Order: sequence, then structure tokens, then C-alpha cells
Amino acid sequence: MGLYSERIFPWLLDRALGHPRIEARRAALVGQARGDVLEIGFGTGATLPFYDPAGVTSLTVVEPSEGMNRRAAARLAAARVPVTSVPGMGEGLPFADARFDCVVTCLTLCSVTDVPQVLAEIRRVLKPGGQFLFLEHVLSDDPGRGRWQRRLTPLQKVVGVGCHLDRDTAAMVRTAGFALGAVPQEIEPAFGGLAPLLPVIAAAAVR
Ligand SMILES: C[S@@+](CC[C@H](N)C(=O)[O-])C[C@H]1O[C@@H](n2cnc3c(N)ncnc32)[C@H](O)[C@@H]1O
Repeated sequence: MGLYSERIFPWLLDRALGHPRIEARRAALVGQARGDVLEIGFGTGATLPFYDPAGVTSLTVVEPSEGMNRRAAARLAAARVPVTSVPGMGEGLPFADARFDCVVTCLTLCSVTDVPQVLAEIRRVLKPGGQFLFLEHVLSDDPGRGRWQRRLTPLQKVVGVGCHLDRDTAAMVRTAGFALGAVPQEIEPAFGGLAPLLPVIAAAAVR
């Protein structure tokens, strides 16, 4: 447990990703979640206020960082949906097969260690026909920007505690066996001068 990753980074994350435009993206994403829902990489709980109590039967959240979990505690206490927080990693989810109607990741697949393994676990715990909702920043489809993303990823992994700029997440979701149509990349002005390095995609893939 490092001071930066467990104390400073969770605080920074709330500030850096607390922009109203990012909040609107979170609301649009998790507002679609229905039934028994699992969110992986819950962080400080920034998505929690946007789950719809009329549609969500239960919410289970998985987050490995103690520092994130500490900061999430106040949001968990104010939750409007029944929520259970489970420490753990997306690479080895402690749940039975076909347990959930919906799985959510929000700006998380950039940071996990093993994306194919996490996607295999998401597929395993989803019911057939279940939805995998994700909002992620990804490798740009502009080759010039992609080259810069690859060059800067070693630095970003340090500053962003494991965050990669160069993951082709939509392709990996399809390779994992999900049905996923074309997903347009968008430049998000909330990221300021870094926006070209952080194109975002949001989609619902089906198991
Ligand atoms: C950039 S933060 C995003 C947090 C939150 N989803 C949000 O939108 O603010 C990435 C999160 O993924 C978590 N994470 C990193 N590796 C993980 C793994 N292998 N399994 C699950 N979560 C992981 C981190 O601890 C961190 O909370």
C-alpha cells in the first residue's frame, strides 16, 4: 500500500473525474443498468448516485484498493439502491456463473492487469443475454495519436496507478465473445489538453 496509490490518487481521481460532463456520461451509462448489477472497479463510488432505484434490484461493487474503498464509504452510506461492496479483483470474481443481469465498468479496463481475463470473468458471471455496459478511454483510431498514446503509456501507468492509454477495448470485448456493434470514439472536452490522448467509448455489449 503506497501513499500515492492509496491516499493521493483516490483524492485526485475524485477531482479529475468529477467534471459535470463526466458525471453526465456516468449517469447515461449506469442509468441503463437493470436487475442484479455488478460494477467492477468502483473507485470512490462516483457512479452510485446514478443507478435507478426503480430498475436496479441489487448492486454489487468490486474494488481492490483500500484507499478507494475508504473514500467510497460515505457514498455507500447514502445509496438509493441496495448495495454490497466486495473487495476483490476483476480477474477473479468471487461469484457464481450467470449470477448477474448486468455488469458495468466505468474507466476501469484501462487499469486492470489482465483485460482478457477480466472480460472472461464478466462473461462468466453474466446471464445469457445479459448486458455489459462500459465507458472507457481507449486507443485512438487515429494512427498518429495512437503512436503518442503508446509512447506515453509507461508514464501514464505511474501517474494513473496502472492506467494504460493504448488499449483497444472494443476489439477486446468482441474477442471475448460479446456481441458489440460499431462503437464511435468521442473526444471529451472535459479532459482539456489531454483529450486527444483519451478518446472515450460507451456501449452496451451483450453476452
Ligand atoms: C480510473 S479508476 C475509475 C474508478 C471509477 N470507476 C470511476 O469512474 O471514477 C480505476 C479503478 O479500477 C480499479 N482497479 C484497478 N485494477 C483493478 C482490477 N484488477 N480489478 C478491479 N478493479 C481494478 C482501481 O482501483 C480504480 O478504482
